[in-house]
Amino acid sequence: MDRIRIVGGNELKGIIPISGAKNAALPLMIASLLTSDTLTLENVPHLADVELLLRILGNHGVDVSVNGRREHQDGSYSRTIHFTCRTVADTTAPYELVSKMRASFWVIGPLLAREGKARVSLPGGCAIGTRPVDLFIEGLQALGAEMEIDGGYINATAPKGGLIGATYNFPKVSVGATHVMMMAASLARGTTVIGNAAREPEVVDLANCLNAMGAKISGAGTSTITIEGVSSLSGARHRVLPDRIETGTYAMAVAMTGGDVVLQGTDASLLDTALEAIRRAGAEVTETDGGIRVVGYGSEIRPVDIVTEPFPGFPTDLQAQFMGLMTRANGVSHVTETIFENRFMHVQELARLGARITLSGQTARIEGTSRLRGAPVMATDLRASVSLVIAGLAAEGETMVSRVYHLDRGFERLEEKLTRCGAIVERISD
Ligand code: UD1
Repeated sequence: MDRIRIVGGNELKGIIPISGAKNAALPLMIASLLTSDTLTLENVPHLADVELLLRILGNHGVDVSVNGRREHQDGSYSRTIHFTCRTVADTTAPYELVSKMRASFWVIGPLLAREGKARVSLPGGCAIGTRPVDLFIEGLQALGAEMEIDGGYINATAPKGGLIGATYNFPKVSVGATHVMMMAASLARGTTVIGNAAREPEVVDLANCLNAMGAKISGAGTSTITIEGVSSLSGARHRVLPDRIETGTYAMAVAMTGGDVVLQGTDASLLDTALEAIRRAGAEVTETDGGIRVVGYGSEIRPVDIVTEPFPGFPTDLQAQFMGLMTRANGVSHVTETIFENRFMHVQELARLGARITLSGQTARIEGTSRLRGAPVMATDLRASVSLVIAGLAAEGETMVSRVYHLDRGFERLEEKLTRCGAIVERISD
């Protein structure tokens, strides 16, 4: 199993190209199941989760052809992938595949809408809480589907003649359930109104792509989304939006280690709340032509309290990284997690580097220290693992992060991007 070795202490200087967003690419790829034409996606990141979803889609009958696998002059690296699902070969998504990545459960929406039925294993994914699927079940039931759980699978069946548009208010904001409802309702008869919808930029990206395919969706990015069903969707070409979590992660790395980095090919408006928190912590964050410049001062980090919330609040996917930053602050800060109930597994690993963190319910109290010291640590989930990497960059001496397969799920060429900016980071394959 690969490990990542970091020798901390270097400031980061240079340019980091930001990849296409994993959390947008996954639902966009799944949308290819809705049409027999070709959906072409540009700027698809090269990540373990994307590769796994390619296999899952292949199982359902999607032909995939990849091109543009080339490095650009600025070091960016994006792929264009063509997806064609002439006919759905299989409406079952098996346990062996779905259990490895929660987002693959989302195929339930397009399969049900296009084929009238789907049998999908209950999901797996990062171990950051119980992560139920009740909202998906209720939402699809509102569109007329029969949903039955049997032997670890959900059997979903649409009424004769297909799903029927309806008004449904989510009792809780869910990104995945909003994606699935938009995809399913696009091919339903009549109009669907989703209340309390997720407002994340990735939801807007999916709506834009579906509209380019012929769907009639309005209101994405607000909490009420209206979808007028159409009888079929066509192909389209769509560019995956930049990864706001990768952007925020590197911005926090610079704030923590010090240095001056331009995050290229990203958009500050995707992560206003997180950038504001980084500014309050003392780093300079400015918009540049086609990116964001972050100047950090390393040793002068101010304590800032944050609470994770659905978009446009502070993203839960940046919580671990921000806690990493706060371990170096000159004072006490609090980080409160409201989205997932078990997303503090990085706390004990950060403590191994010398961080002083105490947990009380859903809030962590972080007493900053001017010195972190490198240590062996273990990656526990995707975002937690990158918080250990950035903490390692700011720590004295060597940090060895094991179980880095978590990182490979969501961060494209992390070692290379950091090394180009002067960090000492290397992958060790055992
Ligand atoms: C997506 C993101 C993930 C991010 C999360 C919250 C992808 C691939 N993943 O995950 O990186 O951390 O949004 O921004 O885009 N819930 C229920 N019942 C359900 C569904 C969800 O109770 O049926 C709960 C979850 O347990 C969680 C909360 O709703 O407490 C939000 O989860 P959700 O927005 O659905 O997260 P994902 O879409 O899985």
